[in-house]
Amino acid sequence: MKKLIRAAVIGTGFSAMAHLETLKRLPGVEAAGIVSRSIEKAEQIAAEYRLAFAYDDIDELLANPEIEAVHNCTPNVMHYELNKKILLSGKHVLSEKPLALNSEQSAELLEIAKDSGLVHGVCFNYRHYPMVEEARVRIAAGELGRPHLISGGYLQDWCLYESDYNWRMDPTLNGESRAIADIGSHWCDTVQHIIGKRIVRVIADLSILHTERQKPSEEAGSTFTNESGGQYEMVHIQSEDAGNVLVQFEDGTKGMFNVSQVTAGKKNHLHFTISLSDGSFEWDQEEPNRLWIGRRDEANQILMKDPALLSEKAGAYAHFPGGHQEGWPDCLKNLMISFYKKVENPEQSSYFATFNDGHYNMKIVDAIIKSSAQEKWVYV
Ligand SMILES: NC(=O)c1ccc[n+]([C@@H]2O[C@H](COP(=O)([O-])OP(=O)(O)OC[C@H]3O[C@@H](n4cnc5c(N)ncnc54)[C@H](O)[C@@H]3O)[C@@H](O)[C@H]2O)c1
Repeated sequence: MKKLIRAAVIGTGFSAMAHLETLKRLPGVEAAGIVSRSIEKAEQIAAEYRLAFAYDDIDELLANPEIEAVHNCTPNVMHYELNKKILLSGKHVLSEKPLALNSEQSAELLEIAKDSGLVHGVCFNYRHYPMVEEARVRIAAGELGRPHLISGGYLQDWCLYESDYNWRMDPTLNGESRAIADIGSHWCDTVQHIIGKRIVRVIADLSILHTERQKPSEEAGSTFTNESGGQYEMVHIQSEDAGNVLVQFEDGTKGMFNVSQVTAGKKNHLHFTISLSDGSFEWDQEEPNRLWIGRRDEANQILMKDPALLSEKAGAYAHFPGGHQEGWPDCLKNLMISFYKKVENPEQSSYFATFNDGHYNMKIVDAIIKSSAQEKWVYV
């Protein structure tokens, strides 16, 4: 019998716990380790999830020869340094997005990854929904003709109020760009993957709804108290809450997307419409098991997720029969299945985003920031 591939997760926040739970659902892989800043927390999670190793020191994890792959689920500022360390320690790496804080860092990571011969992935998970894959397969087969216009966006509401605060609002932990790097990068990766073409130039208009926000604070002095009695200090915000971006793909196809983390009611509304010569495809992450197929001279269709009705590739992403809903945790699982098949067999073809894609997406983010500042088109 083949031995299990042992994997570890760095971090214990939202993304880290999603990775850990997904690892527990993977065939051929053992969730074996966790790193937290607090050893008590690492040990508690290791005990709950029956993990063999708990650390508060990343170097100790990387010195463990039994761990073959590491999931980097830390805040953005740590991605560059940790991804580099993981690769240099000889372990495969699945990094959360964005790959780094800027494209200079991601270029260096890409070089290290290429030289390493190891498997490197970036967690652009939305590629791995069955209905997204179905759109990709049908477009690649030329089913509705050539794409000529791509539109959509990614809207959320968790930053709507001045009192909403998170490390993502601190550029020293997050990087210069927030909404674009955090969620716009997902939209760009998804649509580029679907049509198989890269975005080559952008013109952007970014905006900040709250130039000051209430950062929770333990310290007395310059702090205020909010309605529920919490202490906070007012901090200046430099990163965008929202933005509108025109894009052009390498084949001349034009597109447009907007991002917002301040749109009430939209929780995780990544959506796209792809206009082709003979029809359109539309998909919304908040209703992920439907693919809308628009036609001009016949009735529109809604194709529901059902492995029996999907192409072979998209059907392989659907693990349950029609009518059994699958969602966000399942698309993350599809990404990881693809990643670990590659770890097991480097010759295996794969669809997950690599450091190559992660670096290109950092270049798009950099171009968008520059374009908004300079108020002109910028090439990626
Ligand atoms: N692919 C996706 O859909 C998706 C979704 C959410 C978050 N993310 C990405 O995941 C990353 C983390 O975001 P999150 O939402 O989980 O944030 P979070 O605040 O919930 O978690 C961050 C974690 O990093 C840990 N951490 C910080 N410093 C550490 C250190 N020195 N050693 C070990 N752990 C440390 C924190 O304790 C915390 O557990 C971000 O880069 C974000 O972009 C991706």
